[in-house]
Amino acid sequence: MPDPQLVLATRVQAALSAAFGPSYADADPVIRPSQFADLQANVALPLAKKLGRKPRDVADEIVAHLDVAGVVSDVQVSGPGFVNLTLSDAWITAEVERALADERLGVPVTGRPQRVVVEYSSVNVAKEMHVGHLRSTIVGDAIARILAFLGHDVIRDNHVGDWGTPFGMLIEHLLDLGEDAAARDDSSVHDLTAFYQAARQKFDGDPGFADRSRARVVALQAGDPETLRLWRILVEISKRYFNTVYRRLRVSLTDDDIKGESFYDDLLAPTVQELEDKGIAVISDGALCAFPPGFTGREGEPLPVIIRKRDGGYNYSTTDLATIRYRVDTEHVDRMVYVVGAPQALHFQMVFAVARMAGWLGDEVRAEHAQIGNVLGTDGKILRTRAGGTVKLVELVDEAVERAGAEFDKIDHVEPFDDATRAAIVEAVGVGAVKYADLSVALDSEYIFDFDRMIKFQGKTGPYLQYAAARIRSVFRKGGLAPEDATGPIVLTHPAERALALQLLGFGGVLEQAGETAEPHKLATYVYGVADAFTTFYENCHVLNAPDAETRASRLALCAATLRTLVTGLDLLGVPTPERM
Ligand code: ARG
Repeated sequence: MPDPQLVLATRVQAALSAAFGPSYADADPVIRPSQFADLQANVALPLAKKLGRKPRDVADEIVAHLDVAGVVSDVQVSGPGFVNLTLSDAWITAEVERALADERLGVPVTGRPQRVVVEYSSVNVAKEMHVGHLRSTIVGDAIARILAFLGHDVIRDNHVGDWGTPFGMLIEHLLDLGEDAAARDDSSVHDLTAFYQAARQKFDGDPGFADRSRARVVALQAGDPETLRLWRILVEISKRYFNTVYRRLRVSLTDDDIKGESFYDDLLAPTVQELEDKGIAVISDGALCAFPPGFTGREGEPLPVIIRKRDGGYNYSTTDLATIRYRVDTEHVDRMVYVVGAPQALHFQMVFAVARMAGWLGDEVRAEHAQIGNVLGTDGKILRTRAGGTVKLVELVDEAVERAGAEFDKIDHVEPFDDATRAAIVEAVGVGAVKYADLSVALDSEYIFDFDRMIKFQGKTGPYLQYAAARIRSVFRKGGLAPEDATGPIVLTHPAERALALQLLGFGGVLEQAGETAEPHKLATYVYGVADAFTTFYENCHVLNAPDAETRASRLALCAATLRTLVTGLDLLGVPTPERM
């Protein structure tokens, strides 16, 4: 759908260039929603200052050159020099009808497709996923879906932590338990948190075990086949666990998207070599380091990125540098989006800076850290269990589904549900509630995980949006019609119809922005706006009992367009929409 704001921006820019010269063709027309019209172009004020003229005169001149025939029904200069623009009803209805007839709702496929790596989830093998990973997983999946829908070539990348020193103790612990234990589903190996903690405890308390673990790391790094075989057992168990969580959360990641830290192992040495050859990596205090310009410590001393430790081992940064090099040289990506916790911000800034020094990140490749803010409990502290441990994801989802069930049963359902249907709906509502809550907050802000708020059927919540979609479907069921058959024509007879239609036209513009900035909360806020506009419409305008056949057909078409926008928007956020609720 053509976002009215974008359409008018282009028209005002054309007027600017016609009135003041081609150098103004890209000027920001400062289009804003207005109280007095649909939109307002405020560019006359800054421009007048620049030209040393009266803002009202500049506004008049813009209007004199403005060609908005067929789009705008009224243009007024008001106040100090605002240009008020009222969209024409005929344009609005024609655009909504056009969107309705298009399987992409009129959202264009991008003319400049990019290859984008979206790196998200990036959980650690043999460790429980925690709420921070949950948020990265949910937000990253939405970013990937949005970019793919816009026509970009998206590489989903799960950079799992499957390599490094902890594997020494994990493998030794596995051997102590007996390898066949891993094959039994009920064995303690499958309780990843307990498994990791037990290994850790032995490592800290038993010097013999610690020695064996260290030797095991060396064997792993050296590619000893038997050690690799044991390592693979652990990786497989973890993958199975990740996949149960992904499927439950309806996250689109599969095993094919995993490129863990181990994947880059062979590339570490050549990466380091290149940094040395280019004079970027130097020995400092026995370690090989790069010092990207502009990063200093408290005393003004330059901060290092350690590339090879004193003991000769590589680390997390080395892997990230090799990863960037691989993505640029082999995957030929145009953009990399790292959906990772905010505490790693400095790490990424420094790694990107080193990659720039090495020439791997030039102007034509964008690398960005989509910083995920901390997830807090209702007490404002990092979310923990009552006992103070990390909260297990699966338990969180279980609780959400249970609570969703309780809320659901409070609704006075017109049509009763059998147990299986109820269970499926409640599962979708619980999962949707957690996901939407995660997505509706700017991704870099901290967010309070509050069951009571996220599971309400009212307000800015997943259940409210799912319910809005289900309600529209029930209108069609009651009317004995399929939404696909409601094609209009659309006529606007009530302000609530017009407001809803206008809101629907914003879809394409919002998607474009959400993709450009990798900020799915923009889409989350938008779909809420759609549901809200629909609610007002539905309270004010009879649909099935509309005064005449023409109005009824028009309102059904608005319902159909709303339904598809909601379902498509929620689907891009990874939030399911049950048929009935
Ligand atoms: N596995 C890491 C963790 O759990 C996150 C990895 C982020 N990605 C990266 N390229 N460093 O903290």
